[in-house]
Amino acid sequence: MSDSSKFVSGSHAGSPEPARIPCESAESFCVHGYTPVEEKTGAVATPIYLSTTFAHPELGISTGYDYGRCLNPTRFELEQTVAALEHCHYALGFSSGMTALSAVLKYFSPGDEIIVSDDLYGGTYRIFEIYKRFGIKAVYTDTSNLREVKKNINPKTRAIFIETPSNPTMKVTSIKDCADLIHANSGILIADNTFLSPYLQTPKDFGADVIIHSGTKFLSGHHDVLCGFLIYDKKEFDDLFRFIQISEGGVLSPFDAFLVLRGIKTLAVRIEKAQKNAEKITDFLCKNTNVKKVYYPSLLPAEQKQIYKSQARGYGAMISFTVESPQKVSDFLKKLKFILFAESLGGVQTLVTYPASQTHNFIPKEMREKTGVTDTLLRLSVGIENADELIADIKQAL
Ligand SMILES: Cc1ncc(COP(=O)(O)O)c(C=O)c1O
Repeated sequence: MSDSSKFVSGSHAGSPEPARIPCESAESFCVHGYTPVEEKTGAVATPIYLSTTFAHPELGISTGYDYGRCLNPTRFELEQTVAALEHCHYALGFSSGMTALSAVLKYFSPGDEIIVSDDLYGGTYRIFEIYKRFGIKAVYTDTSNLREVKKNINPKTRAIFIETPSNPTMKVTSIKDCADLIHANSGILIADNTFLSPYLQTPKDFGADVIIHSGTKFLSGHHDVLCGFLIYDKKEFDDLFRFIQISEGGVLSPFDAFLVLRGIKTLAVRIEKAQKNAEKITDFLCKNTNVKKVYYPSLLPAEQKQIYKSQARGYGAMISFTVESPQKVSDFLKKLKFILFAESLGGVQTLVTYPASQTHNFIPKEMREKTGVTDTLLRLSVGIENADELIADIKQAL
């Protein structure tokens, strides 16, 4: 991963800790994090601070911590680590990806319009339905097609919201083109970077203003914690989003923050291994006659692939594919022996998801099918098991 200067632990303004280890790479930074050793105790694993309140020696003197909803030392360590991984100054940890998403939507006012990738996580579609009641309009567009995006921009457009690659059909949106376009219209670019993680893509480098993560996925990596992040570089966003978080209280708990910190230590090795597995599985799926179409970024048409390679550092661990019929889907899921049929992604175990009835079931069928999320589409989140065993399981189930 590039830009080693980003990974100097403890270097951010406002940090209570001194700089310690200048890491040359994301791999090392993932392992050491923002504060590699707690100064007070020498602890090399971040302590879990459960205290919800922090005492002050006298009026006007504070350690910087006062109440757990506002700031917690374990959560702060995680936030600073995630901010640095995304090449940004600020991050806030939320109790889920959806809580983070809900916070960012409060940036907008009634009458505002947001151009939104038409192929995206179903829960994101659902939350836009809620905000419609408050006068915020989502305009669904194929954001991989810049002409379509331009066509939908008008004086009410305040933001573009993208997932790239898209979930689950891997369409690629140019982060830089969308950033340039919306900045010219005085709006902001919001990028959901859950699918690739900051190890493979850092949207801020291409002009994204706010990055969202479901930390439930690759960042934590073990299917054992719900978590979300908002990440950004500007103080004005920090003032607003912190105010929203303090007011609403959807914060990540100290124990969950610890689990995510622990997960991040192996982010690089997990992704490298899962990606290698995904490349092998993609090869296998492409050759199997029971598979009709395979979606993986290495298979993108030339122009899309060029954009992808200009903004991402690897093809990732997510694959989608179609089979002949819904009956074949049902048979396949029943026959799987060790790949798990479960919603979610980004963990060490390989999961297969059926978007039509799981992640995307809230999206109207017509819109779903238009973007390729048909009743014959399956999505694989490839884990870190033995590749040959994964392929053997898929083979026998097909
Ligand atoms: C791309 C994407 N964004 C956001 C979310 C929501 O995150 P969470 O489930 O942590 O609330 C998900 C969940 O699957 C997701 O896949």
